[in-house]
Amino acid sequence: MILTSEAPAASGKTQAFLQQDHQLLIDGQNVAAVSGKKIDVVDPATGQLIARVAEGDKADIDKAVTAARRAFEGGAWPKLTPSERGKLLWRLADLLEENLDEVAEIESLDNGKPRAVAAAADVPLAVDLFRYMAGWATKIEGNTIPISVPYMPDAEFHSYTLREPVGVVGQIIPWNFPLLMAAWKLGPALATGCTVVLKVAEETPLSALRLGQLIQEAGFPNGVVNIITGYGETAGAALAAHGDVDKCAFTGSTEVGKLIVKAASESNLKKITLELGGKSPNIILPDADLELAIPGAANAIFFNHGQCCCAGSRLFVHRDQFEKVAEGVAELAKQIKIGAGMNPETEMGPMVSQIQQDRVCGYLESGLSDGATALCGGQKTGENGYFVEPTVLVNTRPEMKIIQEEIFGPVVTAVSYDDTDQLIASANDSPYGLAAAVWTRDISLGHKIAKKMRAGTVWVNCYNVFDASLPFGGYKQSGWGREMGHEALNLYTETKAITIQL
Ligand code: NAI
Ligand code: MG
Repeated sequence: MILTSEAPAASGKTQAFLQQDHQLLIDGQNVAAVSGKKIDVVDPATGQLIARVAEGDKADIDKAVTAARRAFEGGAWPKLTPSERGKLLWRLADLLEENLDEVAEIESLDNGKPRAVAAAADVPLAVDLFRYMAGWATKIEGNTIPISVPYMPDAEFHSYTLREPVGVVGQIIPWNFPLLMAAWKLGPALATGCTVVLKVAEETPLSALRLGQLIQEAGFPNGVVNIITGYGETAGAALAAHGDVDKCAFTGSTEVGKLIVKAASESNLKKITLELGGKSPNIILPDADLELAIPGAANAIFFNHGQCCCAGSRLFVHRDQFEKVAEGVAELAKQIKIGAGMNPETEMGPMVSQIQQDRVCGYLESGLSDGATALCGGQKTGENGYFVEPTVLVNTRPEMKIIQEEIFGPVVTAVSYDDTDQLIASANDSPYGLAAAVWTRDISLGHKIAKKMRAGTVWVNCYNVFDASLPFGGYKQSGWGREMGHEALNLYTETKAITIQL
């Protein structure tokens, strides 16, 4: 259902922010791009210009890496105690919370997601992530290790490990959860004492720039966090290839993830972590409570307009219940109120960009011409803005592009199955392995299937449950390493083994 009513204007505070001269944050200073160029930022609900930001590229990345290296090697940052680092992170969380309404509006205008969702999920999750990581700053510990060197039987030793920050970190993030992805990346880097050059997505640079202001206000020393707005092929590629960056952490497409690995291997073999695409199976078993599972399946795909790396985009339902479930999800899809994120009635906003709208519609056309049927949706909608109808596709075949590839839009394919072994093989039949879900009243069977899923996250009787303490990341081509949880900290530290002969 498309809403026609106009969205209310943003608050005065948000409008004042949008009108600022948005520059790069390098070494604690706001500076223009070396080239002087700018990028237009548009509201995807209207296609209208809402701000202009600096177009950083290689020259700006070089300056930012130099600042981050200087901050890592000397000055105030390495002298801070872990407790002081933790306090800065906590202070940042407080500031973000104090400015929740403004940041949620910025996120909604820039990305298109409902303001209410940004205020209930994106911003509070980012606040919580910074608090969780603040607590870890004082708990980055090594071990003492008793050793038994066979060729030195009479010697006595004291051996221990230190966990040291990996160094200057380049972080490249996407546009689907702009603020939250910045938090997932910055939190563990700052808790462990790294310094950062953050390259934000060209589609959605604004909330990270507001976060940069709060980082300065919190009192982080200059150069610890540098924020570059710019394009992937220029600024992003320069960061991934930089010889003085010790680690690159990337979230985005698998295609670009492979380019990051190549850039690292052709430069200084920097450490890499990747959080990439997905094509996650969502399995409804015959004994599931359909009152929960049907809305659960709708939420799994339609949350954030399907622009989620872990979206439940392949729905598997037992043949006996297939029609009821597929029709049930389609009924819910038809009721979703589509409109501008700033409209309080809106449940689903636009795709982030015209490019993304075209990409999703290209998949819809390909699926329908290959013989799939849309129970609802199937095309773009709205007069302006980049809206796509929530869509349920049936009558698919395993080799179709819509089954094989990540669509990254509000499009689910529903497929029936007959037996559990076949189901598990089909669910795992993907180059991706980010998430999976199972709906069942038989909890023992839920555990068994969870163990068989080749995925980094498995939800049972729920979907899209995230917490700062839960590691998140992919099997197979969904990525390398984990974000959040204490596992993330290992990927921002090096282990040093020290042995002293007594
Ligand atoms: P992308 O992977 O091109 O963009 C993600 C980030 O990487 C952005 O900051 C971009 O500027 C940067 N980037 C692009 N090319 C780069 C390069 N050569 N070197 C270094 N950085 C580079 O993703 P895009 O084009 O926005 O979306 C394409 C598809 O990727 C989507 O349809 C979706 O399937 C997938 N995707 C997955 C995401 C996830 O959360 N795993 C997030 C965004 C996109
Ligand atoms: Mg791209």
